[in-house]
Amino acid sequence: MGELKSDLVITGGRVVTPDGVRAANVVVDDGRITAITDTAPAAESTVDAKGAYVLPGLIDTHVHFRTPGLLHKEDWAHGSRAAVAGGVTTVMDMPNTIPPTLDPETVVAKAELVRGNSLVDFRFHIGADPERPEVLAGLDPEIAVSAKVFMAGHHTAPTVVRDPAALEKIFATAAGSDLQLVLHAEDDSLFELLDQWQGPPVSYAEYEQRRPRSGGIAAVARVLELVRRYGTKAHILHLSSREEADLVCAAKAAGLPVTFEVTGHHLSFTDADTCRGGARTRLSPSIRAQADQDRLWAAVREGEVGSIGSDHAPHTVEEKTRSVADSPPGLPGVQELGTAVWTGMRRRFDEPEDVSAARLAEVLSAKPAELFRLTGKGRIEPGADADFALFDPAETWMLSAHHVYAKCGWSAYEGWTMSGRVRQTIRGGRVVWDAATGTFGEPDGRWLTGRF
Ligand code: DOR
Ligand code: ZN
Repeated sequence: MGELKSDLVITGGRVVTPDGVRAANVVVDDGRITAITDTAPAAESTVDAKGAYVLPGLIDTHVHFRTPGLLHKEDWAHGSRAAVAGGVTTVMDMPNTIPPTLDPETVVAKAELVRGNSLVDFRFHIGADPERPEVLAGLDPEIAVSAKVFMAGHHTAPTVVRDPAALEKIFATAAGSDLQLVLHAEDDSLFELLDQWQGPPVSYAEYEQRRPRSGGIAAVARVLELVRRYGTKAHILHLSSREEADLVCAAKAAGLPVTFEVTGHHLSFTDADTCRGGARTRLSPSIRAQADQDRLWAAVREGEVGSIGSDHAPHTVEEKTRSVADSPPGLPGVQELGTAVWTGMRRRFDEPEDVSAARLAEVLSAKPAELFRLTGKGRIEPGADADFALFDPAETWMLSAHHVYAKCGWSAYEGWTMSGRVRQTIRGGRVVWDAATGTFGEPDGRWLTGRF
């Protein structure tokens, strides 16, 4: 009799499929979705979604989980708990660790460290090393399909590519290897000049003036020129200004293989918050004016955005309370990502709730899965991995420090009234987060290469 039963059925939800939102049951066997049905079949276990949206597990393609070497800021156990508490079931981690992951050996070593400690499935962006561009040539896609280029330096940037010839070599090599470049596109020679002329910054009110949009615009223009020359696929990370958005959209419309990410932080805060909150909302690239934030939201509404990442970049309270010049940029956000984007969409977009839910699934799951070739991820359909976020759109709650699972223990969103909350997160057909009981599942997330 047992073999007639499915492993799991999720009943009573509003299922967000690529074809629209429908009241249905989702049936799961062996970690995969087998059917979306009107009547619930017999199953070993049942999860009642109680009218919540059943979203595909969210995919955050921009986290800094700080393993190895920076474990005082974050570790994989805390980072992945924060992720699943926010409905995220897959992350892509950045290479700026100690040592940085700049070659296949260090990527494999990182995967070994993460194995057995992750509640989420994972992949890594390898770091582009200007000294060794040849590492990217013919890179095994099991190791990485994407390489991070830091064009600007800051506290945690490992290998900054400032030499134009080295940058060009990286673009040429990546194009030949079908690698997706992901870029921190700022020209920090401008920032250095300003610091030299004006002395170290003493207040957050001048942060934007010290790290101005011109640095981003200049770097984005350079990236677009290299994309045009080599045909390299480029994804501009944490795009922060309206001018950059306009530039990238124009290039994309002209047929260049260029996309961009916006972060939950740039959608949620403005320079006024940095002025008030200081290091809490200090980020590189800086968080800009209201008109920039409005442009980024328009890019979400118009479908111009390639992904929304959290740029989960935690630092300790001690680090964040250093002097203005020494306090590192970056803030946690993987846990807040889905709810912050939902909250913003519901405030800004005059549209039915189901349209917002479909939009959330698209930009926080389907699109990143496609961009980074995360096979089996991003869509609720038969054959796909059984990863879900059960999201209650109606719950309104106030975020405070006691909700935070990131190791740093603080959130820039403390005191925010949030709309929508993740009730349960399911990865590979098993519950990995249950908000009602505050419990987590097994840390057996997979390195998405098929290796383990
Ligand atoms: O603000 C930032 N913090 N921007 C980055 O690009 C990196 C990050 C970090 O690692 O702390
Ligand atoms: Zn980052």
